Amino acid sequence: MEITKTLVPEAERKAKPHDVAHIPFGTAFTDHMFLMDWEANTGWHNARIEKYQHLKLEPSALVFHYAQEAFEGLKAYCTKNGHHAMFRPRNNFERLNLTCRRMCLPELDPDETVQALKELLREEIDWIPQEHGTALYIRPTLIATEPYIGLKTAKKCLFYIILCPVGPYYQEGFNPVKIKVEEKYVRATPGGVGFAKTGGNYAASVRAENEAIQKGFTQVLWLDAIERRYVEEVGSMNIFFVINGEIITPGLTGTILPGITRDSVLQTGKRWGKNMIERRISIEEVIESARDGSLTEIFGAGTAAVISPVGELYYRGDSYTIGDGTTGPLAQQFFNELTGIQYGNVEDSFNWMEYID
Ligand code: COI
Repeated sequence: MEITKTLVPEAERKAKPHDVAHIPFGTAFTDHMFLMDWEANTGWHNARIEKYQHLKLEPSALVFHYAQEAFEGLKAYCTKNGHHAMFRPRNNFERLNLTCRRMCLPELDPDETVQALKELLREEIDWIPQEHGTALYIRPTLIATEPYIGLKTAKKCLFYIILCPVGPYYQEGFNPVKIKVEEKYVRATPGGVGFAKTGGNYAASVRAENEAIQKGFTQVLWLDAIERRYVEEVGSMNIFFVINGEIITPGLTGTILPGITRDSVLQTGKRWGKNMIERRISIEEVIESARDGSLTEIFGAGTAAVISPVGELYYRGDSYTIGDGTTGPLAQQFFNELTGIQYGNVEDSFNWMEYID
């Protein structure tokens, strides 16, 4: 891929934030972004790196009306030895293609896109923060830009990648969060787009999250849309339960995001010889095992938060303390292992890190 570069003069570049760990997640952006256009008759073209700036789009662009878009989230880290690397980027672009197929958007070549992203990161290398617990969050985004008010497959699209230095996703950091079982709203239905990383899934979840926050919870625990019984995700993350020593996560049945952190937890746990199980798990089973003490841990897994321990679960008027309410040993072990690999403190035996320099 030929990439044209129009770089911001040194003197006009932004000041980098001093204390990345304490700026609100996703609010500071780097100097440059990557962009590429797509048209039905020419395919992908005009790959470029230029100033992070406003996009110029027609108000009639399809994305604004019918949410025809796909996105990804991944991170680049400064490793212990002073090098810089991303965590499993190819998987993100493969998943972006999965979303694009469902949303009738054009696919990208995952290898070429990883190379383009590396090129962007090399320009922004000084933006990758060094403190432990911080990273450069990468947001690849693909939108339908064709100006058209009828509903159809777009003939014009834009792909871009923006970057922001981040610390912890939740205010709580790695400390346990309080969650509430959501019974009024659902996140995804079979045959819908629950497995896809597309904005509409997230837009539709905000109302439930806001109501949960008003009641003092950090996030909601989503149940399936048909029986309102089987656990699916927590907030915008995948979920794991530790019951009688087994580590259980809902299977990928089409309504659940195939999380890359989820897959990393599964692969790591299997390598450790743990009993990692993908299956349906009902809220009754969760509550019963919380009551009889066999449920010892719950944790979320996602790119932004990595591992998010759950300290308290609220369901139908009752609160259940999970374990002793503090971060459980397995959540801690997975967090240490994954962040250890990401920061270069633990051997990367799966070859997950993609080095930039
Ligand atoms: C991520 O975890 O990377 C996501 O895309 C979720 C988003 C709500 C930050």
